[in-house]
Amino acid sequence: MKIKQRIEELVQILDKANYEYYVLDNPTITDQEFDKYLRELEQLENDYPQYKLAGSPTQRVGGEVIDKFNKITHSIPMLSLPDVFNEQEIIDFDNRIKKAGFTPEYVCELKIDGLSGSFHYHDGLLITGATRGNGVIGEDITHNVKTIKSLPLKLQKNIADIEVRGEIYLSKQTLKDLNEQRKANNLPLLQNCRNAAAGSIRQLDSKIAAERNLDCWIYHLPNPEDFGIKTHVEALNFMKDLGLKVNPANRLVKDIQGILDYIAEFSTKRSELPYDIDGVVIKVNNLDMQKKLGFTAKHPRWAIAYKFPAEEVLTKLTDIIFTVGRTGKITPNAVLEPVILMGSTIRRATLHNEDYVNEKQLKIKDIVAIRKAGDVIPEVVEAKFDRRNGDEIAFKMIDECPICHTKLIKKENQVDYYCPNEECPARNIEKLIHYCSRKAMNIEGLGEKIIEDFFNLHFINDITDIYDLNKHQKDLMELEGYGKKSIENILNAIEQSKKNSLEKVLFGLGIEGIGEKTALILAKKYKTIDNLMNMNVEDLQQQKDIGPILAINIYNYFQDAKNVNLVNKLKEIGVNFNYLGQQEQYNEFITNKKFVITGSISDMSRDEIEKIISDFGGQASSSVTNATDIVIVGDKPGSKYDKALKLNKEIWNQTKLKEVLSQINNG
Ligand code: IVH
Repeated sequence: MKIKQRIEELVQILDKANYEYYVLDNPTITDQEFDKYLRELEQLENDYPQYKLAGSPTQRVGGEVIDKFNKITHSIPMLSLPDVFNEQEIIDFDNRIKKAGFTPEYVCELKIDGLSGSFHYHDGLLITGATRGNGVIGEDITHNVKTIKSLPLKLQKNIADIEVRGEIYLSKQTLKDLNEQRKANNLPLLQNCRNAAAGSIRQLDSKIAAERNLDCWIYHLPNPEDFGIKTHVEALNFMKDLGLKVNPANRLVKDIQGILDYIAEFSTKRSELPYDIDGVVIKVNNLDMQKKLGFTAKHPRWAIAYKFPAEEVLTKLTDIIFTVGRTGKITPNAVLEPVILMGSTIRRATLHNEDYVNEKQLKIKDIVAIRKAGDVIPEVVEAKFDRRNGDEIAFKMIDECPICHTKLIKKENQVDYYCPNEECPARNIEKLIHYCSRKAMNIEGLGEKIIEDFFNLHFINDITDIYDLNKHQKDLMELEGYGKKSIENILNAIEQSKKNSLEKVLFGLGIEGIGEKTALILAKKYKTIDNLMNMNVEDLQQQKDIGPILAINIYNYFQDAKNVNLVNKLKEIGVNFNYLGQQEQYNEFITNKKFVITGSISDMSRDEIEKIISDFGGQASSSVTNATDIVIVGDKPGSKYDKALKLNKEIWNQTKLKEVLSQINNG
């Protein structure tokens, strides 16, 4: 037989086998046969690369390695859904739609606990895969997506252009297998299916993703009108017919009762499913209705996500220990008998402060209920008083620092205790951890454990020492447990971090009251650290987002010579202290325009509108002046409206605003 023909035949056999095994869950050939054909194809492609077909199943094994994730702009934003938590909120959703004049049917789907992905096919071939990212710009994960065996490299029909979206996930069994392997190799265990899936898809080396056996359910067709499709059910069937994996649990229901029955059914079946779900997604079936209902800034109005209630488990509170934060704040923590909750093992939970423990009347050795909802960190709900047997030990707040033994202080009218010792090692370690953390300087590799080690070995005593680590490269490489490569990576990451934009280092300095968001506001406003340092309290307070306490904190921070020295030293080292600007998105109506909003806008808060304006490079200000370009006028506008008329400014009513927003949402 001709080589080219044989290659085509093998591709066909393997594609069919893949589809039957991974999409239909109904294999017709054995694994051995599959491997035999795959090896034959690999050999032929190797010997006759001129005949290798695009979308060949040999690409599945992984091997492509990238050096960084490129950005991909979603032509239609990938929105998330509003969460609802009870029956009433589902009824409210249904009523809102009926009030808009519709009699909807709904599609109920399982809410898969993974991460959403967008997949583009060109001439029937998978060409790109992307993460959701911030909804508008995601990351190119094509190399890893190609290892997802249930996602066809080639569609069963040749369509010029199509994008489909779905949830990339990891099955419960795969997580179990992976963790068994990791345990045997002394590696930290993966906490749950979603984290494991997210971690796997963000690997530069696709071999790792391939080993993780990722899977994917497809649930969304962003451009149904391109294919003359009228309902979501049709869209699902259409995608299924292309060979995509569409969940058979999806169900068309006529009314609220249908939705509630579906939720009840899958609340019970949830634990038996081979993958994790965290709720049920409810979508209006009719696409014309969907279109008319439209979007808010964040969510479609035609769908909601019902989240299952938080799970609770009982365990023993074996001890209460105290940790010291970077500001010196003392936090009591519950040490728990390890217990599995929603897929992760819980050993600790914060108890916040003395009052919190006393209000809950917690005692050491109590049986306590622990709760966790989705991403939320676990919390101690209550002690089970009826389970007490007299052995419990009353909680007592400490009066000296557990690390440096300095007497603790309590600030007036505050519940928290603080260690006032600036030199307290615990505080210093926490400061370093904060400085290197992802949201601050994002020095990959310098995590908690390593910082603690380096601190204890006196390689790092304060922030500036981080930048001297390269002088100890040789010593570090000789440390037990640290490979040459990992030290090199850390040193590279440190060097890279010098180029961060101002907001990262500003947040990293740990000035009281400057969180991630405030740091960005300040960086945008003042552009350089010098500008910020030169402000007095009054100047600072002029800024709409800076209250009096924060203004004083910032001012005081830069009055302290120690802090000014730190900034100067970091500057000498080469750390950037200028705002580099975020990658703003362009919109012809918003970018570079100055807006004023007056009156209330239905369905949207002022913050939401201002966020969109700033995301698109516009500016929102509070008073109408000659410089104003556009005035957005809602219900009951104030005098700003009169002023806008007087100055002959462009006025947007709510309809115009929503038109612009829906244009953004629809790409
Ligand atoms: S529909 C506009 N369907 O849940 C359509 N989402 O906030 C948006 N998810 O970001 C998505 N299962 O990551 C949809 N059957 C399903 C889903 C699903 C899981 C995720 C998705 C989305 C989030 C909702």
